[in-house]
Amino acid sequence: MTDQSKNRVYIFDTTLRDGEQSPGATMTHAEKLEIAGLLDEMGVDIIEAGFPIASEGDFKAVSEISRQAQNSVICGLARANFKDIDRCWEAVKHAARPRIHTFIGTSPLHRAIPNLNKDEMAERIHDTVTHARNLCDNVQWSPMDATRTEWDYLCRTVEIAIKAGATTINIPDTVGYTAPVESADLIRRLIEEVPGADEIIFATHCHNDLGMATANALAAVDGGARQIECTINGLGERAGNTALEEVVMAMKVRGDIMPYETRIDTTRIMNLSRRVASVSGFPVQFNKAIVGKNAFAHESGIHQDGMLKNAETFEIMRPEDVGLSETNIVMGKHSGRAALRSKLSDLGYDLADNQLKDVFVRFKELADRKKEVYDDDLIALMHGGTDDESNRLQIKHLSVICGTDGPQKATLTMVIDGDEQSTEATGDGPVDATFNAVKNLFPHEAQLQLYQVHAVTEGTDAQATVSVRMEEDGRIVTGQSADTDTVVASAKAYVHALNRLLVRRGKTGTDQREVSYKDVS
Ligand code: KIV
Ligand code: ZN
Repeated sequence: MTDQSKNRVYIFDTTLRDGEQSPGATMTHAEKLEIAGLLDEMGVDIIEAGFPIASEGDFKAVSEISRQAQNSVICGLARANFKDIDRCWEAVKHAARPRIHTFIGTSPLHRAIPNLNKDEMAERIHDTVTHARNLCDNVQWSPMDATRTEWDYLCRTVEIAIKAGATTINIPDTVGYTAPVESADLIRRLIEEVPGADEIIFATHCHNDLGMATANALAAVDGGARQIECTINGLGERAGNTALEEVVMAMKVRGDIMPYETRIDTTRIMNLSRRVASVSGFPVQFNKAIVGKNAFAHESGIHQDGMLKNAETFEIMRPEDVGLSETNIVMGKHSGRAALRSKLSDLGYDLADNQLKDVFVRFKELADRKKEVYDDDLIALMHGGTDDESNRLQIKHLSVICGTDGPQKATLTMVIDGDEQSTEATGDGPVDATFNAVKNLFPHEAQLQLYQVHAVTEGTDAQATVSVRMEEDGRIVTGQSADTDTVVASAKAYVHALNRLLVRRGKTGTDQREVSYKDVS
């Protein structure tokens, strides 16, 4: 770390590690590289790129992200054993600025898992941090479940880790149990009472189980923490992690009472939020702070009147501060390729010529069906599961008969591994009939865990975006698509998920996680 300013807060993004651990949020290799590139460009100080020992896929992703990073420190996670730490180093050593993050659960409940007594665990911490530090001069150590660890033992372990060479001590609220006053107090007291604490950086890592992750992280900064661990959109297991966009914008908007600085280019927030929502398959709730669809919308008459007179009446930040383009120039079927390129660039998508060619074809198809194409339509178009020719399953034709007298009937033609096949199926509603038809043509045991439909814009010709989540033998995948026809969008999203499942099936032993950070060794 170079910036010694007392008020500089480092942003540590763990979307690709803690966020991606969320069941169903698994990203492909290419998606991880893309997200890491965007985080790097946005000014994230440290990117936790993955957990290298977990799988060949994680190892490869962390290695490549390390090679491609321009500015950010690249960090990998390792449990408290030499094998994990060595594997982590093998992956991050390619980075210009590598970091090893090693951890062990220190609370009574977590100590019971590896069955270590306090002294044995203390020795393990000393040995593993020393080992990590012999490999890398940037080492982060975390006492997992710190907020439920006995005070004396927490101080003792933090001191051991500092003495063994840790340069950052992260204090995780693993189960989202703490509250702001306690969060601030914990860091303040650690800095005051642990020898050597003023030589290193304290980090805060909060989970959102009680909805306090943002408040807890900011309170920890008030207590003296200078690194916030967070994820885009608050992605993460259970209720998620601290949301990057919330802490960064809170410090920016309320600099009067939180005079802290980050290096984040906030105008890139919306684009990253959309990309992460799309690749993780976790849509952003409409009323989510900063990045929700309604975060800057002013629907009621009184609000609109106030807004027209003075935007500050109801707005504490400007939409453009987070990368929402102000203009909503409507596109239509006469809009050309240059206009589409410029519009997409305003929305944060800079496309290569071949990508633009493909998107332009899909844009024209949409504009033929929908008179006015809004920003949100284009975003849905960019994020919908594409009909990539390399996909093993493709929909060729679908028609569905609906009516009050059911059952609904779907007639479907698909190309499966190059072979065209057709079927008919009935079901309880048009989507059920369509999914049954897909199953007729491609029998599988995967269970549908989630089916979600959203209208992108208003009006009866609005596009629907559909997300589905499926599970097979512990592998969870998501699929998405958008179309003005909800049933077509549903069919495409379902087939998108199946295609991803086929890729994951083929990668058993490489992409499939063999180890979770919860498997304590
Ligand atoms: O929540 C947690 O405790 C973690 C650790 C691995 C840092 O994610
Ligand atoms: Zn965590």
